Amino acid sequence: MKGLFVQTYGCQMNVSDSERMKAVLQPLGYESLAIAEEADLVLINTCSIREKAEGKMQSFAHELKKIKKTRPGALIGITGCVAQQEKEKILEELPFVDLIIGTDNIDELPWIVEDLQNHPGKKIVSASFDSETAEISETQTQDSRTWHTETKILNPGPTAFVSVMKGCDHFCSYCIVPYTRGRERSRPIHDIVKDVVSLTKQGVKDITFLGQNINSYGKRTGESLHELFKRVHDIEALERIRFYTSHPGDLKDELIRCFEELPKLCSHFHLPVQSGSNRVLRAMRRYYTREQYLDRARSLRQARPDIALSTDIIVAFPGESEEDFEATLSLANEVRFDNAYSFVFSPRPGTSAAARPNLLTESEKMQRLNKLQFDLRRVSKELHMMEIGKTREVLIEGVSKKDATKWSGRSSQSIPVHIEKTNAHKVGDLVPVLITDATLTHLKGSPVVSPNDVRKLPNRDQRSSLRHISAMGSSG
Ligand code: SAH
Ligand code: SF4
Ligand code: F3S
Repeated sequence: MKGLFVQTYGCQMNVSDSERMKAVLQPLGYESLAIAEEADLVLINTCSIREKAEGKMQSFAHELKKIKKTRPGALIGITGCVAQQEKEKILEELPFVDLIIGTDNIDELPWIVEDLQNHPGKKIVSASFDSETAEISETQTQDSRTWHTETKILNPGPTAFVSVMKGCDHFCSYCIVPYTRGRERSRPIHDIVKDVVSLTKQGVKDITFLGQNINSYGKRTGESLHELFKRVHDIEALERIRFYTSHPGDLKDELIRCFEELPKLCSHFHLPVQSGSNRVLRAMRRYYTREQYLDRARSLRQARPDIALSTDIIVAFPGESEEDFEATLSLANEVRFDNAYSFVFSPRPGTSAAARPNLLTESEKMQRLNKLQFDLRRVSKELHMMEIGKTREVLIEGVSKKDATKWSGRSSQSIPVHIEKTNAHKVGDLVPVLITDATLTHLKGSPVVSPNDVRKLPNRDQRSSLRHISAMGSSG
């Protein structure tokens, strides 16, 4: 047996790609380790979405130099979005790196690693997009094709990621993703159904379908996300369907209707808004307006009243005025997001927004971010507090990382829920949980075993709210 350590940065797609790396390397005898220092092969799966993400990867890579000294035979590889973008240029800065693998080249890992084992000192760079994918240029979008693959995960737990499309044709003016993941390519529904059936046979109950711009899934293959969801909904052993990430401009009524028609579709929608100002949205090349966004959010809540909405927001985009920023604040306070990720604009090489002048000082940028995050957190906490007294179905995913006496799972709304760890439950159980407490980041609750559970609630308002809910026979 040989040791493999994979360090993952970035989005769920990278998390899923790291799982794939472990799976394709297993036949070579590589076993996943928790410590880089003991590994024979260390892979850094990188993200270049913001400068900070790239910086983190750089400092980790420099730490690895020590491993090369103490274990000269160990191999070090850079994979993911930075690898795709920088290719062999990485070797100039990090000469101790042995292999560089692009985002479309993960399946080549076994023979590349074997080649390196047989030829000490050799360096291999493989970072070209699938042959199906043509030039990455902003004007040629017609070359997106079908993408054939099979999901590979070693020993999946109750939840799993399944990539259904990759790449992006949008070229938002700030974003590196079209350059690091190529153009949109979608897998055929029948291939995905095969994956889902196979994963459910291995005990998976909750699948998150992934794509950089998932609601344009099937754009050029004649299939669609709502069709995919209807097909997988019929797979009996599958309990929950989730998906990331959607572009508000591509959100069709058919997908919104799925929230009325498909009970297994979880009550969570991640819909990045980026800005509340139409002027900034135009400069970002987002192709929707604030009003259209608000309309989509309203329609989603009509289709599924208990839906949790989450979002991504960029502040201090070049040219963002105080008024533009206020428009973002007011949108956030109007929509009331359950969860939101917010960032200061980070210029990315090669993107058109990187060349725009930004007159704000670093401290002004941070002030805007802090002000926005203060409001976002206040609303999240308020919405989480409103969960107290409700009964939510929780899929137990494992032991809480923070507290080993608790099981950790998620509600349909994607909010983490902690419950007492007893032998009455095990990983993979779907448990109705009475929510008894809430923090900014998670909920606490106890499994519903009898109506007497009402007594466990800390105060009278919450007790009467549960009685009211029970009387209505509703779970939310
Ligand atoms: N496909 C998703 C976004 C993926 S990137 C979408 O279309 O929304 C995740 C988030 O990172 C984005 O939603 C955006 O908020 C943020 N982001 C992307 N590029 C950025 C940049 N240059 N600076 C700051 N934040 C950025
Ligand atoms: Fe990036 Fe998302 Fe825009 Fe595509 S749609 S360019 S992934 S922000
Ligand atoms: Fe980062 Fe690449 Fe994902 S840039 S956010 S890892 S697609």
